Amino acid sequence: MPGEGPNAPQAAYWNGPSTRAWAREHERIDARFAPILDRLLARAAAQPGERVLDIGCGSGTSTIALAERVGPAGRVLGIDIAAESVEVARRRIDAAGLAQAEVLLADAATHPFPPGGFDLLASRFGVMFFLQPIAAFAHLRAALRPGARVVLTAFRSPAENRWTTGAAAAVRDLVPPPPPPGPEEPGQFAFADPARVERILRGAGFAEVALAPEDVPMRLGADAAEAAAFAMTLGQVSRALQDAPDGAREGLREVVRDRLLDFYRAAEGPAGVTMPAAIWLVTARA
Ligand SMILES: C[S@@+](CC[C@H](N)C(=O)[O-])C[C@H]1O[C@@H](n2cnc3c(N)ncnc32)[C@H](O)[C@@H]1O
Repeated sequence: MPGEGPNAPQAAYWNGPSTRAWAREHERIDARFAPILDRLLARAAAQPGERVLDIGCGSGTSTIALAERVGPAGRVLGIDIAAESVEVARRRIDAAGLAQAEVLLADAATHPFPPGGFDLLASRFGVMFFLQPIAAFAHLRAALRPGARVVLTAFRSPAENRWTTGAAAAVRDLVPPPPPPGPEEPGQFAFADPARVERILRGAGFAEVALAPEDVPMRLGADAAEAAAFAMTLGQVSRALQDAPDGAREGLREVVRDRLLDFYRAAEGPAGVTMPAAIWLVTARA
C-alpha cells in the first residue's frame, strides 16, 4: 500500500469510503465519461507496439482501451494508489486476456519506473492529486523516452462544471460542502487554471505544453432520477452525505434526492439528462 511518502494523505483519501465508488461503480462512471475517454484516445493516437504509462488508471478502463490499441507487441502500465480500483482493473484485464496490460498499486510520483521506457503518458483525470506536482511530473518525465507524447484530461473550473458543482450548490444548505482546497492543493479542480498547469509541466521539463478547452456532453442518466442517484453515489454531494451524522443520514437522503431531482429536471430532454463536462485536453512532449 503506497501509504507513505509525499502523497500519503491522498493515498488515505483514495483508499477511504468517500472514493470507493470509483471501483464499485466503475460501469456507471465509465458510461458517463466514455465521450471524454474517446477524446483522450483520439488525441493520444496510440500505435501498435507502443509503450504507454497510464497515471491514476483507477478501474482500468483507459488502460484496457490503450492496450487494445497498442496490441500484443505493445505494453500498457497502469498505476494507481487505490487498492480496490487496482483489484478491479486487474480482474478486468485478466478477463479481457490482455497480456500487454499490467496495473501497479503504487504512487506514480515516486515509483521507480525504468528510465526512458515509455512512448506515451496518458491519464483520464488521474494527475490532479500530487502534493508536489512539479516533482511528480519531473519524475514521470524521466520514465519517458525523449520526445514521448503526453495526453491528459483534467477538469476546468468549478463554475464551468455545473453537472457536479451545480448539484452540490443545490443542496449546500442541507449538506454543506467541505471548504474548497487552496489553489496549490490537490483536488478535482487543481488543474483548472491553465497557467498553473503550464507552470507545472514546463517546470518539470516538458516542451510543447498546450491546453485545449473541450466541452464534452455527458449523459448523466436516462432521466432526472438516474442523474440524481448518480450524484448521490459519486462526487461532492455523496461525500457530504457520508459526513452527515448516522441518525440523520436517511432522512437527509430523501430531501437531498428531491432537490437533485429539481436540479436535473432542468437539463432533462428526450435523450435523458445531458450536461457538458468542461475539460482541458492537455498535451506536451518529454
Ligand atoms: C478521479 S479518479 C480517475 C480514475 C480513472 N482514471 C478514471 O478516469 O476512471 C483519480 C485516480 O487517481 C488516483 N491517484 C491519485 N493520486 C495518485 C498517485 N499519486 N499515484 C497514482 N494514482 C493516483 C486515484 O487513486 C484515483 O483512482
